[in-house]
Amino acid sequence: MVIEPKVRSFICTTAHPDGCRENVKRQIEYTKKKGKTNGPKKVLIIGASTGYGLATRIAATYSCEAATIGVMFEKEPTKMRTATPGFYNTVAFEEEAKKDGYYAKSINGDAFSRKIKEETIDLIKKDFGKVDMVIYSLAAPKRTTEDGTTYSSVLKTTGNDFSNKSLDLKNNTITEATITPATEEEINSTVKVMGGEDWKNWIEALSKAGALENNAITIAYSYIGPELTYPVYYNGTIGTAKKHLHKTSIEINDEFSNEEIKAYVSINKAVVTQASSALPIVPLYIAILYKVMKENEIHENCIEQMNRLFSEKLNGNNPIVDEENRIRLDDYEMRENIQSKVMEDWNKINTENVEEFADLEGYWEDFYNMFGFHFDNIDYSKDVSLI
Ligand code: NAI
Repeated sequence: MVIEPKVRSFICTTAHPDGCRENVKRQIEYTKKKGKTNGPKKVLIIGASTGYGLATRIAATYSCEAATIGVMFEKEPTKMRTATPGFYNTVAFEEEAKKDGYYAKSINGDAFSRKIKEETIDLIKKDFGKVDMVIYSLAAPKRTTEDGTTYSSVLKTTGNDFSNKSLDLKNNTITEATITPATEEEINSTVKVMGGEDWKNWIEALSKAGALENNAITIAYSYIGPELTYPVYYNGTIGTAKKHLHKTSIEINDEFSNEEIKAYVSINKAVVTQASSALPIVPLYIAILYKVMKENEIHENCIEQMNRLFSEKLNGNNPIVDEENRIRLDDYEMRENIQSKVMEDWNKINTENVEEFADLEGYWEDFYNMFGFHFDNIDYSKDVSLI
């Protein structure tokens, strides 16, 4: 079958296996060029198939020479449908890593479930004994807990209605989007899905099974961003969950101090991923940010960020952190000159001048690349067998 992109608003419902492999290979090449750095050797990555988790896996492998176990929730291909990109990415990553002599195994299933936790721990015990790093990079729309209750995360404000400019991804026009406030129940559900409870459950389960090295580091990914996006992000439902994640890092540090487990939240840069495309208002901020950061030659995507995590921020076993014990990979994004230019352009932007102030081409390039499309060296007219 010839696979073409089928874009529906902020999602593409098809993925190209050769293009996904290319996406993985380019991230590997980038990391190889950056060279090696000291770091963890046995890494568990929860949410390892796309975006930040995949980039962490690639950087840990090729920068620190780590063996990795990745957990993800991806759809396999059927006779009629392509797989999700994370499935193809994982197949490609495992093959490339093995070719280069690195251990890489993956578990495809619901990371929130006890079954997948047990399966993962069994694999760690069998192949590693213990892990020295646990990355928590989940971005999930829902979570079903042991008692069968399903919680959904929502992207809403926690105060009043919030309206601002937004990029209409259907036709690249600037419209106004209004986000309504969440109910108490919706806020709590979002915290259940995207907060720290499941992260801590993982650490408890790993510790109980004796699968964590003393001194192991665990990092969960988070975002803050500028005041402009506070109502939709930092002070919205998702930000409330992220604050819970931070609170959880403090609890893990307290509760596992005997084993000297160190837990951190890393505040990463805003990038185009499946998770961020689904947010209202934020994609326009990202498109303007891309333009400004590219002009200043400090633009980064997931792989640049994750290489910097290992080479600059981890600092052996003593990460460089801010006053709240957070790793700040958003340091370039939040620079004063970057933010003031983004705000200036945000105020000027409209449908007529959108190309002047926003890097729409860069935004869409990253978007299509995520699903394995728009790579100049891939022959998209070729017949590809789905299974
Ligand atoms: P993504 O959508 O690219 O990746 C999500 C990952 O979670 C995938 O590997 C997916 O398979 C996995 N996953 C989802 N539900 C699962 C489940 N039930 N069981 C097992 N695996 C599951 O998202 P992205 O953007 O890389 O997000 C990762 C983390 O980084 C999130 O916590 C996000 O908030 C954070 N972050 C993202 C930023 C961005 O701009 N994209 C900025 C800063 C932080």
